[in-house]
Parts: sequence; structure tokens; C-alpha cells
Amino acid sequence: MPDKLRVGVIFGGRSGEHEVSLRSAESVINALDRDKYEVVPIAITKQGKWLASSEATNLLPNAVLERADQRVAIFSDPTERGLARFSGDGKAGERESLDVIIPVLHGTHGEDGTIQGLLEMADVPYVGCGVLASAVGMDKIVMKRLFREAGLPIVEFTHFLRTQWEANPKQIESCVIEEIGFPCFVKPANLGSSVGISKAMDSKSLDAAIALAANFDRKIIVERGVDAREIEVSVLGNDSPIASLPGEIIPQTAEFYDYKAKYVDANGARLAIPAELTEARTAEIQQLAIRAFQAIDGSGLGRVDFFLERGTERLLVNEINTMPGFTSISMYPKLWEASGIGYGQLIDRLIEMAFERHREKSRNVTSYE
Ligand SMILES: Nc1ncnc2c1ncn2[C@@H]1O[C@H](COP(=O)(O)OP(=O)(O)O)[C@@H](O)[C@H]1O
Ligand SMILES: [Mg+2]
Repeated sequence: MPDKLRVGVIFGGRSGEHEVSLRSAESVINALDRDKYEVVPIAITKQGKWLASSEATNLLPNAVLERADQRVAIFSDPTERGLARFSGDGKAGERESLDVIIPVLHGTHGEDGTIQGLLEMADVPYVGCGVLASAVGMDKIVMKRLFREAGLPIVEFTHFLRTQWEANPKQIESCVIEEIGFPCFVKPANLGSSVGISKAMDSKSLDAAIALAANFDRKIIVERGVDAREIEVSVLGNDSPIASLPGEIIPQTAEFYDYKAKYVDANGARLAIPAELTEARTAEIQQLAIRAFQAIDGSGLGRVDFFLERGTERLLVNEINTMPGFTSISMYPKLWEASGIGYGQLIDRLIEMAFERHREKSRNVTSYE
């Protein structure tokens, strides 16, 4: 009987989605089958400190954050392969190996390729998308350009730099009005959870919307506002990905699926799983989801979000999330559950996929003498 796999679960992080990550990680840690896995929870505080608990009983995210007594680091040196625990005087003490890592981090420094870069350097298999797909999935402008290049239907958009707008706001705003018109959605290019996003109805609200988005990113994207149903699909796999049944987000109160509807107000939105769609529509959406995943060179998992425009019945790919919400009641795992893959089994598959991707990459020749 081989030893249990040692699974590092990294959560928290220097991100606006820190709290969401704690919730996702709690579900993942609770679901990891202890007959197969030994769990090593690793917290990153909002300040960026890496902590672990020395006691196996304090496994859950809040306990690790509140009671963690040990600072840890991942070695970027692959010959060390794993985690270093620091003693009280700051000296690196015990080393422990990790077989695989699940970075349950949402948003900045987690979903954007940065932690993936560290894990590539360390040569540890990890769950989810690699550096490129993560970075691209985080940047709404680059992502949409790749979708367009792959022939996927997307909403009309334009983009500019914060410095361009600051230098010449009137000119930027009249270009936006000419190219996109009203209503439009103004977004920081690299963020998530609807932070910094607003809907503009006229020039005055456009100016305020750009000013808001400009607080969060140096790049700003403006899209035509569509009146649409919001459909989401889960994708799973590496080179031959599969798509789940689609689900639908039905906002109950907010004008759009904003931060409050996502995380604050439990009644802010309702999930319809599966979404009410014809079989043909379902198949079409699943195909588009797989193509969107492949367009960014995705691996492991991704949730692809669509607009189904009312009136025209046009399907538009809105975005891909490479580390979607992962609590047991989140859309990503719920869609797999409805498609026949339970939460625990889903985590097993994602871990297998991490090893598969690592093996596949290890086949590359890296020196030629
Ligand atoms: N072009 C658009 N037309 C209509 N609604 C939009 C548009 N873009 C975004 N929204 C609304 O804003 C929400 C958040 O936008 P999204 O692009 O998905 O950003 P995030 O990465 O923060 O989830 C969407 O779920 C939708 O409700
Ligand atoms: Mg979204």
C-alpha cells in the first residue's frame, strides 16, 4: 500500500477575494478523502505572510489563520521539492515534501499566474490552469481578443489605459460613446467578483464609471451592455476537456450580478441547475465552453460564463474563471454534481489531472548538447 499523497492546500492570499478563498478552501479540506490524502493547509494572510499550523487538528482556514504558529515557504528550488517550516527564531527547520498543491486562491496573486509561476519553478504538480491560461483568464482584454481570434462570439468592446484617459478624458469618452454607446459596462481589465464594475447610462455616469474602474487597474475595458440571461458551464480536463450541464444565475434584486449579489446578500441571486434550455442549445453552449477553455490553453478546470441575449437569442462568451468559487454550494462543483461527478470525486479528478499535466510537461526535452 503506497503512502498517502501529501496535498498542500493554499488559501487566503493578498486578494480582494481573500474571504471567498477561505470558504472554498474549507470545503476542499473537508472533502479531501483522509484515506488517500494527508492534508497540509497553508494560509497566506492579507499581508502576504505564509503560515501553517503545526497541529494537525487546526486544519481549517480560520484556525490556521488565527492560531498558526509557524511560518512556512515553498522552495522555488526543485531539488528541495516542498515546504520549509521556520522555527521561532526564523531559521528554516523542518523540510517536508508535498506531492501536489491545490491553490484555492481567487483573484490577484492566485488566479492570475503568479502562484502558478512559483509552483512551476518548484516543479510541484498543482491543480488547475498553468501560468499562461491563468494570466490570460484574468485579463478581460487579452482573454476577449483570444476568444475573438478563436471565432467565438463575444460582446463588442473597446479598451484604453488609465493614463490615456487621465490625459484626455473627453476624447476617450467620446470614442467610447461612438464605438459602444449606452448602456455600457465599464470594468477594470484585471479583477473579479464584479469589483470596480459599473453600468453607465449616459456621459455623466460614464465618467464616474471610468473613474471607479481606474482605481483598480491601469487598463480599462468598456463593453456594450446586453440584456441577457447569464449561463455558466464547468469545464474539466487537460488535453481532452469535458463540459458540464449549463446552469443559470438569476439575479433577484441587483441590477446586475454585482459583488453584493455574489457574496453579501444570500438572496441576491438564485442558481438554476441545470438551466432551462433546449437540448440543442445545451450542446451548443457546451461546445463553446470547451473552445473557450482551449482558446486560453486551459488545463484542469475553468468555469465559462455566457450571456444569452434576450430578443436576439444570441449566445456570447463573457469570460472564463480559472479558479471559480469552490465551496460545496458554488456553481462549479454544483454543475458537476448535476452532471454525475460528486464533490469528492471532482477533487480526486482534479488531483489526477495535476499529475497528468506535470507528467506530460516533463516529457519535454530541456537540454540539447
Ligand atoms: N456587457 C455586459 N452586459 C450586461 N451585463 C454585464 C456585462 N458585463 C458584465 N455584466 C454584469 O456584470 C457581472 C460581472 O461582470 P464580469 O465580466 O463577469 O466580471 P467578473 O470577472 O467580476 O465576474 C456579470 O455577471 C453581469 O451581471
Ligand atoms: Mg463574472
